[in-house]
Amino acid sequence: MNPSIHLILGTALWAWTISKAQAFKMLDLFYEAGFRWIDAATNYPINKNADDFRAAERILNEWIKTHGVQDLKVLMKIGSINNLYTPENNLAPSFIQIIYSEYRHLFGEQLAEIMVHWDNREEAKTIEPTLEALDRIRKEGVKIGLSGIKHPSVYHELNASYGFDWDIQLKHNLVYSDYPRYADFHGKPRFLAYGINAGGLKFPTASYRKDSSTAVRNVPTEKYQELVRQVAAALAEYNARSSLAPLTRFNECSMVYTYYSPDIKGILIGPSKTEQLQSTLEFFQQLQAGQHQDLYHRLATLSANG
Ligand SMILES: NC(=O)c1ccc[n+]([C@@H]2O[C@H](COP(=O)([O-])OP(=O)(O)OC[C@H]3O[C@@H](n4cnc5c(N)ncnc54)[C@H](OP(=O)(O)O)[C@@H]3O)[C@@H](O)[C@H]2O)c1
Repeated sequence: MNPSIHLILGTALWAWTISKAQAFKMLDLFYEAGFRWIDAATNYPINKNADDFRAAERILNEWIKTHGVQDLKVLMKIGSINNLYTPENNLAPSFIQIIYSEYRHLFGEQLAEIMVHWDNREEAKTIEPTLEALDRIRKEGVKIGLSGIKHPSVYHELNASYGFDWDIQLKHNLVYSDYPRYADFHGKPRFLAYGINAGGLKFPTASYRKDSSTAVRNVPTEKYQELVRQVAAALAEYNARSSLAPLTRFNECSMVYTYYSPDIKGILIGPSKTEQLQSTLEFFQQLQAGQHQDLYHRLATLSANG
């Protein structure tokens, strides 16, 4: 168990399947429960509707202004120049400086962390100027991180001269994990796991809505049916042996699997409804109480990452 693991509220579906009113309610609940970290990105929602570019961050900013909140911790992923789900981005120092200044202006001291969002480059000499720009931001007291890096070893080598203590966002769930790709960075809890439900998988007992996360993001649920069935069977066995209240959701299994995975520092949660957020926060308390470790070991034997 790692008691320092924290929850981060994701915003990828805001202004897409999650309306402003719903996002406001979830922010109210998350904040009132004492949580402060929010994950955002310039290109959220990535719904390929250019009119919605930066719409998720606008909702966040409006909520902050409406409530006069001053102690949020906003993690902003930068580099994207559109929300069309293309790999195009801009990590030139001038762009980083402009977008950083913009977010500093919008979020002030609540801008807690900046992450590079997607980098497919391989050549050290093209990546190094990005690190120089990030170094200037770090000097202003903002944490620096990485997300979606195709060649992490190049960042690792360059970092010998910079000494960044990166946080790294990675996809990590029962069907897939980026953890092996970041081998150079293993050995320290620095990883913030996203997509823990593989984009919204559910047990067969819960049906997928028309606007479910898997539907709008084209997650091939049939492909994962067998694994989901095995997870459900493992959970049924576990519930039968356990004296604790039975677990019922795929999301709970995802939380258990992520919580106990190596080097995890934070869990990005992506509830689409207040009720999902409420249940996630309640379940997180159970995790922090050290329950369900046995289930993790069982799930690890099923995961495709073993
Ligand atoms: N760094 C990156 O490149 C990157 C990439 C992806 C995401 N992220 C971040 O990580 C956050 C979460 O990612 P994700 O949306 O892909 O996560 P996810 O956990 O794999 O999928 C979220 C979906 O799971 C279902 N769910 C979540 N909590 C539930 C609960 N308590 N009960 C039942 N169902 C539940 C919901 O599906 P339904 O809506 O269908 O009910 C929800 O929309 C994003 O918002 C974003 O901030 C970062």
